[in-house]
Amino acid sequence: MRLCFLVEEQYRYDGMPVDVIRQLTAWGHRVDVLRPGSSLIRLSETVRSGRHDAWVLKTVSGGPGLTLLEGAAAVGLTTVNDARAIRGVRDKALAAVLAEARGLPVPVTYAAARAEEFAELPADAFPLVVKPADGSSGRAVRLVPDAGHLTDPGAEPTGDGLLIAQPYVPNSGVDLKVYCLDGELYATERRSPLHPDRPPTERHVPLTPEVAAIATEVGAVFGLDLYGVDIVLGPDGPVVVDVNDFPSFRQVPDAVARVARAVLRLAEAGGTGHLLPMPRPALTAPARAIGGNA
Ligand SMILES: Nc1ncnc2c1ncn2[C@@H]1O[C@H](COP(=O)(O)OP(=O)(O)O)[C@@H](O)[C@H]1O
Ligand SMILES: [Mg+2]
Repeated sequence: MRLCFLVEEQYRYDGMPVDVIRQLTAWGHRVDVLRPGSSLIRLSETVRSGRHDAWVLKTVSGGPGLTLLEGAAAVGLTTVNDARAIRGVRDKALAAVLAEARGLPVPVTYAAARAEEFAELPADAFPLVVKPADGSSGRAVRLVPDAGHLTDPGAEPTGDGLLIAQPYVPNSGVDLKVYCLDGELYATERRSPLHPDRPPTERHVPLTPEVAAIATEVGAVFGLDLYGVDIVLGPDGPVVVDVNDFPSFRQVPDAVARVARAVLRLAEAGGTGHLLPMPRPALTAPARAIGGNA
């Protein structure tokens, strides 16, 4: 197979995806790597050449890689994950709307441009978790005990984008992180960044049928094939607090080989097994000149 990986600077030396690329190459596949943000890309030439069986994105929130992947999808190339599915989870405000509309167990979610605006919420919405809508890796996520603490000059900067806030779901301080590789599920436990006082445990744990059903449903709702779900176990059961496309797959046994095999399966199948509402554009759609008679 011939694959094109989009890898942004932040992941340049990371095992995920560098070792996956190495593994695929060792199996005899041809992998081209594009580094959006650090190399010149001849846009239409690269995207339209149609030389690749699939394009794979491992990139950072808001980075330039997603635009390229969307370009590849727009001309009908197979992408892993589906480009529209990635857009749906990269924005936590959009993800909250999609998840809630499809009945996933998620906290009530509020959005505002500035943290002070959450002061309008009733007192019983606090403690509140405030996070940037385009955040990742625990960046600028804060537990706010009451409206008087919404602004904190010492807090990590949140950037210029939208903020979201959710009531804090009481939990043990340990997240359940469920990883999904084209239908295979793995559960791990990791300390929540909101509970730095807890021991820094990280281990593989058994998956309950209830959590497995929720994690599978997340894939169907968002149309993702390679993803991770952050779940906290609250007083009323599991609650989904975050969904990530192409996560680290930390603690997944043989993660590199499993991810590589999942990428190959998805590339062969022509992309997502999940049905999304919009049809894929055909690669061979005739060109039409704007204003012309073609
Ligand atoms: N509503 C919530 N209730 C309880 N804990 C939460 C809530 N939202 C987030 N957290 C905790 O904060 C962590 C980071 O938030 P998350 O939404 O996963 O952001 P990031 O994209 O930075 O990982 C989660 O893993 C979880 O431990
Ligand atoms: Mg998270």
